[in-house]
Amino acid sequence: MGRLDNKIAIITGGASGLGLGTATRFVEEGATTIITDVNSSGSEAAEQIGARFLAQDVRDESMWESIIGSVVATHGRLDILVNNAGIFTSCPIDQTPLEEWQRVMAVNLTGVFLGCKHGIRQMKTNPEGPSGSIINLSSVVGLRGQMGGASYSASKGGVKLLTKTVALENAPLGIRCNSIHPGVIDTPIMDPIFSAAEDPAAAKTAVGESLPIGYMGDPARDIGNMAVYLGSDESVYITGAEMVVDGGMTIGLPSSRDRS
Ligand SMILES: NC(=O)c1ccc[n+]([C@@H]2O[C@H](COP(=O)([O-])OP(=O)(O)OC[C@H]3O[C@@H](n4cnc5c(N)ncnc54)[C@H](O)[C@@H]3O)[C@@H](O)[C@H]2O)c1
Repeated sequence: MGRLDNKIAIITGGASGLGLGTATRFVEEGATTIITDVNSSGSEAAEQIGARFLAQDVRDESMWESIIGSVVATHGRLDILVNNAGIFTSCPIDQTPLEEWQRVMAVNLTGVFLGCKHGIRQMKTNPEGPSGSIINLSSVVGLRGQMGGASYSASKGGVKLLTKTVALENAPLGIRCNSIHPGVIDTPIMDPIFSAAEDPAAAKTAVGESLPIGYMGDPARDIGNMAVYLGSDESVYITGAEMVVDGGMTIGLPSSRDRS
């Protein structure tokens, strides 16, 4: 028996990285899983793991209406929504163009707002009564500042408090909303950072070794399993929580610990 048997789930940004890792675990745990993405490679990825793919730009409100409408028309309801689609950028505040700020906010914060808005509307009208779990991808830099994070960190901090508001408004209905705060997980979003290094592979290893736990996180094992827990009925008493999955990145100040 799967931990997500009979659940209908949408995962945005599911073509790659954490979205794909999460979708893989959702399928393994029995959820009917729909991944959406602006990248049409999501179609092949979905096929490989036994999910369905729908093209979606999370910035577009009318697309949210049609995606949720289509899922409900086919499957009857929506149980889990993972607002995962996101983009990364890094630039000092005094050099950040307004357009860059707006681009990041549009995907990382407005996209999550629209998902929550339309997800909650549907979850309130699920056939057996209001029910559901929304899971929003924030970041450890949604909990604290980040060098170069004017746009990215601010967008992820917004996701954290949007999550708590959605949780508060809908707790009496039994509809939950939680945020996941990953540290450094090995996905394509990190590629521009590592490819700028002289030796990208060595840079990746060094980042992993700088973490208290000693290595970078894995999309399915670390974020996928947390999302399975939050999407399942095992977590019915958890809402508005910040689930930090960071190999200890935020528990203390950096040290020169000798790992030998
Ligand atoms: N990887 C990490 O270490 C890390 C750490 C903290 C937070 N996160 C967050 O996790 C989420 C997933 O990141 P990832 O590491 O898997 O990155 P990724 O680049 O591998 O995946 C992001 C996906 O989102 C999609 N996407 C981008 N813009 C979109 C849009 N407008 N509409 C629909 N889809 C869109 C991309 O096509 C891509 O498939 C993001 O929100 C990211 O900010 C990641």
